[in-house]
Amino acid sequence: MSTAYLRFLGDQHVLITGGSSGIGLALALQAAEAGARLSLVARDEGKLTAARGAILEKCPKAAVLTATADVAVQSAVLAALTEAERVHGPVDVLVTSAGVAQPGYFEEVPVAVFARAMAVNYFGTLYPLKALVPAMRQRGRGAVVLISSGAGLCGIFGYTPYAPSKFALRGLAESLRAELVGTGVRIVIVYPPDTLTPQLAAENLTKPLETRAITAGAGLWTAEAVARATWEGLARGRFSVTPGLPLSALAWLHSVAAPILRWSFDRTARQARVVARAATAEGGRRGR
Ligand SMILES: NC(=O)c1ccc[n+]([C@@H]2O[C@H](COP(=O)([O-])OP(=O)(O)OC[C@H]3O[C@@H](n4cnc5c(N)ncnc54)[C@H](OP(=O)(O)O)[C@@H]3O)[C@@H](O)[C@H]2O)c1
Repeated sequence: MSTAYLRFLGDQHVLITGGSSGIGLALALQAAEAGARLSLVARDEGKLTAARGAILEKCPKAAVLTATADVAVQSAVLAALTEAERVHGPVDVLVTSAGVAQPGYFEEVPVAVFARAMAVNYFGTLYPLKALVPAMRQRGRGAVVLISSGAGLCGIFGYTPYAPSKFALRGLAESLRAELVGTGVRIVIVYPPDTLTPQLAAENLTKPLETRAITAGAGLWTAEAVARATWEGLARGRFSVTPGLPLSALAWLHSVAAPILRWSFDRTARQARVVARAATAEGGRRGR
């Protein structure tokens, strides 16, 4: 697929939190192909080094800086941004892709998991925005791209810790968008459906069967396809990016369709439980 529409990224400094894996890494690879200077921020130095290696293998001339930071720690974020701007100059495009998800039944998930979701997904997005947006406004140009989730558009069974943190990003993006009108700084919020990444694999370890049944409706995307939709959305001046028809429809119709969605999701959850119980009973009969 042609990436000509990404020409605008050429020679831009693109900083991606969570750029060492999954959607963040796919965004980094595509930005490198378009000629961007890259800064990748994440916690694990080994994963960052591997990501840098993968990018250089595809784009040997790419300028890729890596910086370790836990995005939930403001001072660590600021140190990483300072290092990135020292090497590559002011950040032109900020992407906040670092995120965590640990689904489960509400009663079984400890409060610490709720707190961590807000700390990483919400505050881990807020800190780099607070640090970089004022300078972008002063320069009169720049872009910020927030990676939310389909669970940031509508509450989903099993995502009680995750969905609020992704809803919070929506509130932040919508409010900040209004303040950025006419400043030359653009903001994009992305609501990916289930995407084949290490995070999804980890989620699947604790995901309730009802959650699987409900999210299956939006299909399974590759990180590359989500990254393409994201850059394309930015290139076309979109505010909201919803890869695929189900999420696009959800974004448009959610408020109107909320009662129908609740009814449909409840029914899917009930049916998933009935199927699981029948399978367990069948297994029991066979075992006897
Ligand atoms: N995969 C999906 O189905 C899906 C669907 C909708 C939305 N999303 C969202 O998309 C974003 C990317 O997810 P992904 O699926 O690509 O996950 P992933 O492959 O697991 O990548 C997550 C990235 O975030 C980094 N990260 C995690 N916690 C961090 C922290 N506290 N500080 C700094 N970096 C941190 C990870 O590196 P370290 O572990 O080394 O820090 C890694 O680079 C997330 O915000 C996620 O919620 C994913």
